[in-house]
Amino acid sequence: MAKLKSNFVCQACGAVSTRWQGRCDACGEWNTIVEELIDSGIGAGPKAAKSGGRPTNLLPLAGETEGAARVVTGIAELDRVTGGGFVKGSALLVGGDPGIGKSTLLLQSAAALANRGKRVIYVSGEEAIAQVRLRAQRLGLGEASVLLAAETNVEIILATLENGPPPDLVIIDSIQTLWTDRVESAPGTVTQVRTSAQALTRLAKKTGAAVVLVGHVTKDGQIAGPRVVEHMVDAVLYFEGDSSHTFRILRGVKNRYGATDEIGVFAMTERGLEQVANPSALFLDQRDQDAAGSAVFAGMEGTRPILIEIQALVAPSPLGTPRRAVVGWDSSRLSMVLAVLETRCGVRIGANDIYLNVAGGLKINEPAADLAVAAALISSLTGSPLPKEAVYFGEISLAGGVRPVVHAGLRLREAQKLGFQSVMTGRMNTVDRAGDFAVNEFTQLSEMVSRIAANGKKPVAEPEGW
Ligand code: TYD
Ligand code: MG
Repeated sequence: MAKLKSNFVCQACGAVSTRWQGRCDACGEWNTIVEELIDSGIGAGPKAAKSGGRPTNLLPLAGETEGAARVVTGIAELDRVTGGGFVKGSALLVGGDPGIGKSTLLLQSAAALANRGKRVIYVSGEEAIAQVRLRAQRLGLGEASVLLAAETNVEIILATLENGPPPDLVIIDSIQTLWTDRVESAPGTVTQVRTSAQALTRLAKKTGAAVVLVGHVTKDGQIAGPRVVEHMVDAVLYFEGDSSHTFRILRGVKNRYGATDEIGVFAMTERGLEQVANPSALFLDQRDQDAAGSAVFAGMEGTRPILIEIQALVAPSPLGTPRRAVVGWDSSRLSMVLAVLETRCGVRIGANDIYLNVAGGLKINEPAADLAVAAALISSLTGSPLPKEAVYFGEISLAGGVRPVVHAGLRLREAQKLGFQSVMTGRMNTVDRAGDFAVNEFTQLSEMVSRIAANGKKPVAEPEGW
């Protein structure tokens, strides 16, 4: 009997090594390397599909094009993130933690498209047909003409999809459950996921259907898959949120047919996912306006301004090394803001325990949040609530300056729409100023600190000479 050859593949990053080791050299993860047989797996793609070395046609860059044909779901928050609907003939990956609502979102989109007369096929590898039907009934979508299949074998799925009229949308839930005869390794391993994803991406190009692959990701990266699939597909969306909050964010991280910084906001209700057209109102809903340590940040997510509450708690620390806990923001960014407050503004804050929380479970990446964070910290330190009707945005430099940020006008208009009346920020262009909005511009962080501290119950800095 011919000896089967095997490779050792890291299930976290997909790196291949020739022997087993405890730690992957490529990504540094422990216990992720698994033996996979390679008689037709990795590297076999080109071998299996003999091309015979025919030359291909070389074409000029300038030439006839048609815009990407899209299937629009009518779910505005989803269409916004995909850049105007699913693109025909493209593959899209929707990743997210298990239980976050991926199947719910895709079932709702499938039903929306089917109701618009599109041919939609939902292939469930995780749930039985009865379960999918039950969910659809609970969502009030029991009558939608979505076609279902409960199947995990890629060859059978491909044969099914090529049989009959070409579908407009195919949903594969999830890529981790698929397996192909062409590869020996177990379902869920990197090789299986990669080979299956490749086959389905090819199907998208061939049939002109939009193929959506669902992929679970876990925090510890134990489930193989989405990462290796990311560079194979045309677009990658992540569905985020934490299970203790009702709202969910759909975020584009890669899109060959549109912008990647857009987000869609949904709320998970007992009737499924509902669109949140005005996220600012949602994020500020529970705000305790009279508490010290709460600042409203006027942020941007893609082309859309969103107001978010930033909460800080500064408390004397019993520990030699004070505690720092940050949720929803970059902790090294917090360290920087603290260092600037200490050294440039003379604020004694470093010896305290500091907790920072972006309310509602949203994650902020913008440096423009610096100023709102600083305001929340000073407000908590001095025990003085910030003015209820003020918003904050601006980037803080290491020298203690406040730098202007982009889209100031959009941020202000959103704040005005929600009833805010003043802003603390860096220097603004005159064109960005809105009518009767009180604009407080600062070039130095220390100016804002003295302004907030003037209302405070406790001094921020110890008197001169200490
Ligand atoms: P699901 O879509 O199955 O998650 P995923 O496919 O990402 O694993 O969503 C599961 C969660 O959503 C589950 O905990 C229950 C909740 N849920 C609702 O709150 N309301 C609903 O109408 C539905 C269908 C699910
Ligand atoms: Mg699911």
